[in-house]
Amino acid sequence: MIQVGIVGATGYTGFELIKLIARHPQARLVWATSESSAGKRISDLYPTPDETPLIRFADAPLTEADVIFFCLPHAASMEAVARARDAGVRVIDLSADFRLPDPAIYERWYGTPHTQTGLLQEAVYGLCEVNREAIARAELVANPGCYPTTVNLGLWPLARAGVLDPNIIVDAKSGVSGAGRKLRLSSHFVEINENLIPYSIGYAHRHIAEMELILGAYTPDVQITFTPQLIPVNRGILSTLYVDVNPGLGEEDVRAIYQETYGNEPFIHLLPPGQPATLRHTVGTNRAAIGLTPLPWPGRWIVTVSEDNLLKGASGQAVQNMNIMFGLDETAGLL
Ligand SMILES: NC(=O)c1ccc[n+]([C@@H]2O[C@H](COP(=O)([O-])OP(=O)(O)OC[C@H]3O[C@@H](n4cnc5c(N)ncnc54)[C@H](OP(=O)(O)O)[C@@H]3O)[C@@H](O)[C@H]2O)c1
Repeated sequence: MIQVGIVGATGYTGFELIKLIARHPQARLVWATSESSAGKRISDLYPTPDETPLIRFADAPLTEADVIFFCLPHAASMEAVARARDAGVRVIDLSADFRLPDPAIYERWYGTPHTQTGLLQEAVYGLCEVNREAIARAELVANPGCYPTTVNLGLWPLARAGVLDPNIIVDAKSGVSGAGRKLRLSSHFVEINENLIPYSIGYAHRHIAEMELILGAYTPDVQITFTPQLIPVNRGILSTLYVDVNPGLGEEDVRAIYQETYGNEPFIHLLPPGQPATLRHTVGTNRAAIGLTPLPWPGRWIVTVSEDNLLKGASGQAVQNMNIMFGLDETAGLL
């Protein structure tokens, strides 16, 4: 049994992890933390019979865990993660703090200096389908952001094959749980209900950095035009990607690239021709669904990708990372 600790268990991703670990056949929760609700039980905060007690991080017996999931906001995570690494415990961090290896790029997007730059070297970007071998050896896994998981999974086959044009347009829509549980005006019912809200448009959303990190490794000078939007659903992301590939490639060639990359992946659902991805393909699952639509102009495609932002976009992928790190069946607890 893998012994698990969860830090920040009262947030959306933390509670999702509590549920995933409870049904995982080879992992068990040994402690869970909250600063504002220490002394309470998870059933005091969510409508659940789960009576997991909540303790302060300072009181958590770090070394009783084989792995600790950190579900804190960015910037709050880095020093807490450093404490766990000093104690020699493996870490999966769901925040953005260890996703970008260059501290100057982190500071440019997150507006705060990185205080644990020594740990950036050991952090592995935990996009399972892309980095599986490095994740298996990792002591510190940086779980990817929710939007970048859709964009990077959707385009990595083309980037890796060297056929992706650097000019990429991403139109992405997310359910409101993507913003976390804390209150903010844009997630009030009256603001979001019957509405659709673009935000951080232009070259502005922090998640562009993770798209540049993964796709830019194969497609030099990648230019990502990214428009994230909030939609009035609880969970789910649908990203519609407008891309050009090498115009010499026919429809069968492009489909073959995806089939070769993802044909054996348990959590990638390649959709048949004519079927775009929808939220219903993936919400409640750890899958990403990918639909491919050619346009009449040579090389131009629309790629649709959906995921559940709290599962494949966060806690589900985090458990998939744990399974890889500990040599378990990658699907354990996730099907
Ligand atoms: N929501 C998503 O779809 C999603 C997807 C991918 C990645 N992520 C990332 O995962 C992390 C957690 O997201 P979430 O949606 O679960 O957030 P959330 O619902 O807002 O929960 C955050 C948790 O961290 C604790 N916390 C809040 N501010 C803190 C601070 N300044 N210092 C220490 N602890 C603090 C909270 O409260 P208490 O300790 O007081 O109980 C809570 O347990 C974030 O970094 C987020 O960007 C989220």
